[in-house]
Amino acid sequence: PLVLHVTGARPNFPKAAPVIQALRTHDVEQLLVHTGQHYDDRMSQVFFTELGLPRPDVDLGIGSGTHAGQTAAAMVGLEEVMTTRHPALVVVYGDVNSTVAAALVAAKLHLPVAHVEAGLRSFDRTMPEEVNRVVTDRLSDLLLVTCADAADNLRAEGVDPAAVHLVGNPMIDTLLRHRGRLDQERARSEVGLAAEGDYVVATLHRPGNVDDREHARRAVATLHQVADHCPVVLPMHPRSRPRLLDVGLLDHPGIRPADPLGYLGFLSLVQGASVVVTDSGGVQEETTVLGVPCLTLRPNTERPVTITHGTNALTTHAELPAAVASRLAAGRPAAGSTPVPPLWDGHAGPRIAAVLAGSVGAA
Ligand code: UD1
Ligand code: UDP
Repeated sequence: PLVLHVTGARPNFPKAAPVIQALRTHDVEQLLVHTGQHYDDRMSQVFFTELGLPRPDVDLGIGSGTHAGQTAAAMVGLEEVMTTRHPALVVVYGDVNSTVAAALVAAKLHLPVAHVEAGLRSFDRTMPEEVNRVVTDRLSDLLLVTCADAADNLRAEGVDPAAVHLVGNPMIDTLLRHRGRLDQERARSEVGLAAEGDYVVATLHRPGNVDDREHARRAVATLHQVADHCPVVLPMHPRSRPRLLDVGLLDHPGIRPADPLGYLGFLSLVQGASVVVTDSGGVQEETTVLGVPCLTLRPNTERPVTITHGTNALTTHAELPAAVASRLAAGRPAAGSTPVPPLWDGHAGPRIAAVLAGSVGAA
């Protein structure tokens, strides 16, 4: 049987890598489609190289666009691939536009869909990702969840519990697998930091933080206040870069702007940081496992488990500078002293592969 994986954007790649690898031990054929939603080398190719992902069998090259334009382009390309290849199962990851596009196409072709990272809910439908999550889960036949609260969310929505599998977090498989390759010294020197001393890593790309000028201005003012305490390294997502630069990001000597970093370089920096400030989904999870304090600059999170079983806290712009200062004063928590959610143990990929293979009769 043929299993078709659909990826498209940066956060998909570290989730798909361990699933694809683990499925190789089962009797299935695999096809990897990259929609091309992300296409800059630093947003895409670098992950294939660093994570040992196979080259995509198909690259649809859809590129950027409006939500409708991007989703529609992915759907047209995916329909062609699925109609010609007749997969026994379509596997989708996370909550990006490519994810929902693939689920919609597969459902209408009566192909079973497996959603890796199902059930996460911010309960905030102003986030495009929340719409993508709700629709994708509604259309999925197999719902693979990273944590118990995601299973609870699905149950509350009336999903058949037999379709829900608590498998752990494949993104954490990737982190644990490559952890030994992280090189803090090199990462510091690459972004121009001294060999010693506190620093903050910040990533911002949510529309609510960067899209309109007022929001971007507020984010920059907040980062400047943080930079009064210690250097702030800011690998900038291409969405945010022009907007943040335009409202004076660089008008503070403590801000160290950077291009988007590769996976290993980025996590090397995170591992050595005193505090991480982010609005990313995946970074909330990675900091929890690395034991690095994380301040999430959002009013909500679809990953509350990183607060209850991790190092994460939600903060407002007004609270953030003081929250950073208090964490700097407290110092990094001792290694192993912060909790990690159950099953974030590096073995989610094999568990997911077993469920997928079983569903296509290739256990
Ligand atoms: C997308 C996801 C978001 C995820 C993020 C991860 C959706 C709705 N959003 O947001 O959930 O957190 O990816 O990084 O799917 N651009 C480039 N080069 C690239 C890719 C994008 O320059 O390789 C620029 C383009 O100007 C583009 C903008 O970034 O218009 C936004 O890209 P897009 O894929 O639409 O959304 P993201 O903000 O990346
Ligand atoms: N990441 C990276 N380089 C960067 C910023 C992030 O490699 O400069 C990684 C990060 O470690 C995680 C993934 O990209 O594995 C998360 O992607 P992103 O924050 O873009 O998306 P989200 O998780 O918010 O959907």
